[in-house]
Amino acid sequence: MDNRPIGVFDSGVGGLTVVKQIIKILPNEELVYFGDTARVPYGSKSKETVTKFSEQIIRFLKTKNVKAIVIACNTVSSNCYESLSEAFKGLPIIEVVTPGVESCLAATKNKRVALIGTQGTVSSGAYERRLKNADNEIQVFKKACPLFVPLAEEGWTDNEIARLTVKEYISELVEKGIDSIILGCTHYPLFKATIGDFVGEKVAIVDPAKATALKLKEFLENHNMLNESSDEGKRRFYVSDNYANFDKMCESVLHYTCKAEKVDIEKY
Ligand code: DGL
Repeated sequence: MDNRPIGVFDSGVGGLTVVKQIIKILPNEELVYFGDTARVPYGSKSKETVTKFSEQIIRFLKTKNVKAIVIACNTVSSNCYESLSEAFKGLPIIEVVTPGVESCLAATKNKRVALIGTQGTVSSGAYERRLKNADNEIQVFKKACPLFVPLAEEGWTDNEIARLTVKEYISELVEKGIDSIILGCTHYPLFKATIGDFVGEKVAIVDPAKATALKLKEFLENHNMLNESSDEGKRRFYVSDNYANFDKMCESVLHYTCKAEKVDIEKY
C-alpha cells in the first residue's frame, strides 16, 4: 500500500482526458496534475525543448512526493520517454503510446488504420514502428492536426469551426478505407463526438486514455502500490499560466470544480 499521489502532466488541458479515466478506474488515488499552459503547444517544438520542459515538470511533481508519473501527452511519450526514464531512474513512468498501440491492434480488422497527432508525435514514427512491429501487415495513414490543440484549449470542440477543421484534416484518411483512427494526442478526445459524427460508425475511435489508466492500475497492483484508503482521492491542479481557462475546461471535462494554482515552472 502506498498513499502518495500520482503525478500526471501534459502541455495543457489535454491530459485531463487521461485524468478522467484514471479517476474512473482508480477513484481512491490522489492525483497531482500539471498543465503547461504557458508553453503549450508542445507538438510543434523540438525534442530537446520538450524534453527540457518535461524534466522541469517532473522535478516539480517530485516536490509533491509522487509515487509514479503518468505522461498524459503523446508528444512527450513519443519523443522523450526513454530519456526521461533514464533521467529519473527509480521513479515509475507510464506513457500513453504503448496502450494506444495495444488498443488499436484490438480494434482493427482490415489493418488499415489512421494516426492523428501533433507534428512531433507523427514525425517521431513511434506509433507506426510499434504497430508494424506487432503486425507488419498493418498500414498506417498519418496526419498531423495541429489546430486541434488551440481549439481544445479554447473549449471549441463541437462548434462549426471544430466541424470544419475535423473535415479538412480527416477526409483524406477516411478515403483510404481505414477502420480505426487513433487519437494520438490527449487533446483530441475532446473532439470525439465531432470526429465520430464525421467518420461514422464503421470507424473505431481509439483513445489510449482508458488503456493507459488500466496499465497504471496493473502497475500499482503488481508493485503493491495502490492507495488503499476508502476515501475518494484528493486532486490538485497546477498550471504555468492562464488558470481561469483551465478551471473552465476542468469543469467541463471532469465535472470537477478545481482552482488551479499557478507555478513558476522555469524555476525547476
Ligand atoms: N496533448 C499533447 C499530446 O498528446 C500535446 C499537444 C500540444 O501541446 O501540441 O501530444
